[in-house]
Amino acid sequence: MFKLLFIFALLAVLLAVYFNDLTNNIFALFQLQYLKGKHLFTAKELSFYNGVNTPFLYLSILGNIFNVTKGDKHYGVGQSYHIFVGRDASKSFVTGKFSKADATDDVLSLSQKDLKLLNNWFEFYQKEYPKIGKLIGRYYDENGKLTHYARQVRRLIRESEIADNNNQLNKVKFPPCNVEWDPEKGSRVWCTNKSGGIERAWVGKPRQYFEPGSKTYRCACISKENEKLGSVKQYEGCNSDSESCFIKD
Ligand code: HEM
Repeated sequence: MFKLLFIFALLAVLLAVYFNDLTNNIFALFQLQYLKGKHLFTAKELSFYNGVNTPFLYLSILGNIFNVTKGDKHYGVGQSYHIFVGRDASKSFVTGKFSKADATDDVLSLSQKDLKLLNNWFEFYQKEYPKIGKLIGRYYDENGKLTHYARQVRRLIRESEIADNNNQLNKVKFPPCNVEWDPEKGSRVWCTNKSGGIERAWVGKPRQYFEPGSKTYRCACISKENEKLGSVKQYEGCNSDSESCFIKD
């Protein structure tokens, strides 16, 4: 009698597991077809789609869930990036640490530069894989609205993008000089109309250029209209008209 009960109980558990997997798989097909990225997942629901019980592979980054099934050679069971599926391991995209303990969605300890790198990964997934939903938790609440945490992360990423743009503008206005070093003559800095990788119609003169708020300088090619700026200084011992200067180390 006890044996029979045990067999029934075991059968019931196996059927429940089997039908749960089946339901989840049918749901996966349904939502790919109809929900088009609007579904809200709990962490437990997401954890199902890691390729173990289902052929579907879902990954979350910054709380956004993508179907990466077509990338199974990267994300499938036993593949290099399997850690990313069935969970949100946003931080690992930047740290490159792929242990379970390191695979967290808590990213506020990252620098702004690293957050920008993480956002580049997010943009990569937007381009390469279908978005299928959002993860309820750190980035989205039960109604699919952005959390305070997510807004904070977005603000830091935006600031980092603005800083990158400003740096780029600054490099165009004050292009870096060419530099070479000779053991006898020391360092030489000079300008061409391509120096610093900035192609331009003018050449400019090599000068010490102090970035805003900085006490140190770099060598920049300065155009005529910027020669008088307070942030620009002539190199000692270098003729003001010279396009090439030897500088003391
Ligand atoms: C922070 C460290 C790293 C992260 C987070 C990372 C992440 C990834 C991810 C997510 C993919 C799959 C992209 C897709 O869906 O198409 C990928 C692909 C790949 N990664 Fe990495 N990776 C890292 C470091 C490296 C390093 C150091 C190497 C080489 C030594 C490398 C070599 C590759 C290669 C060869 C592919 C496959 C490209 C292809 O077949 O399309 N990765 N990486």
